[in-house]
Formats: sequence, structure tokens, C-alpha cells
Amino acid sequence: MSKTTNINGKEISIDVDESMPLLWFLRDELELTGTKYGCGIGSCAACTVHMNGQAIRSCLTPVSSVIGKKITTIEGLSEDGSHPLQKAWLANNVPQCGYCQAGQIMGAADFLSKNPSPKEQDVEAAMSAHICRCGTYQRIKKAVLDAAAEMQEA
Ligand code: FES
Ligand code: FES
Repeated sequence: MSKTTNINGKEISIDVDESMPLLWFLRDELELTGTKYGCGIGSCAACTVHMNGQAIRSCLTPVSSVIGKKITTIEGLSEDGSHPLQKAWLANNVPQCGYCQAGQIMGAADFLSKNPSPKEQDVEAAMSAHICRCGTYQRIKKAVLDAAAEMQEA
């Protein structure tokens, strides 16, 4: 029986070298190119996806580690871009070049699942591992706080 992983709700057969980084598997094999390659060494968080609901760096995660796991990428966060974080990102015009933003949103989603009513400093601390070369940090913080408020109301 072939080994599989669940990606955005679909069972996917793993027919590649299992040492391949998950990031390559997503982008090159599955054409899920929303997840970005920044540094490749775990330092920028552009490649963040969720494994069983936890944020991970897909550049450092071999495919062997995701067998039988549930992976969510930015393409699977919501079917139609209606996740509160995605809406807050749009409302606050967060992206500049956009390159880091999928990772930022996936990191923020993991953070809000653990801390649904954060203070400003909590957001700053949680998001500090995510590098944005365009310097959109203030808008990211505002969007995360807005999304948290919307999720609290819902
Ligand atoms: S590309 Fe994975 S942390 Fe930078
Ligand atoms: S928006 Fe350009 S790197 Fe973050």
C-alpha cells in the first residue's frame, strides 16, 4: 500500500524521495505554489504551513515526516478566502510584494488558535519569527488583532 499524506483535505500518494523537503513536494510536485521559498534554512518563515494544526517550516520538514499527517497550506486555509485573517489582510491592505504573506497568515492562524484574544505585545512576539523584507509589520499586527476581534465576536 502506498504511503499517503492528507493535503488540504485530499489524500495524496507519496511517490518521491522521502527526504525531499515538504516545500518542494508542495510546490514542484503538487503545484501548490502559495507556500514560498525564502531562506531554506528555517530562518524566515515564508514556507510556513500547518501539520495537524501546528505551524511548521516546510523547508525543514522532510516528506517522511508528513506520512499519515494532515497538512494545510494557504490554499486550504479557507475555500474562498473567507478566513477572518484573509479578510483582515485585505481590509488592511497588508501585502506589499506579497512574498512573505502566505507564511505570515499561516503563522498567525496557528497563533490565534492558541491565543484567541491576544494583546499587541503578544502578536509582536508571536510574529517576530516571520521576516518581511518590505516591512509590513505594523499592518500585519493590526490585521491579526482585527481578525482576533472578529473571531471573538463570531
Ligand atoms: S524558507 Fe523556510 S524558513 Fe525560510
Ligand atoms: S510583503 Fe514583501 S516580503 Fe513581506
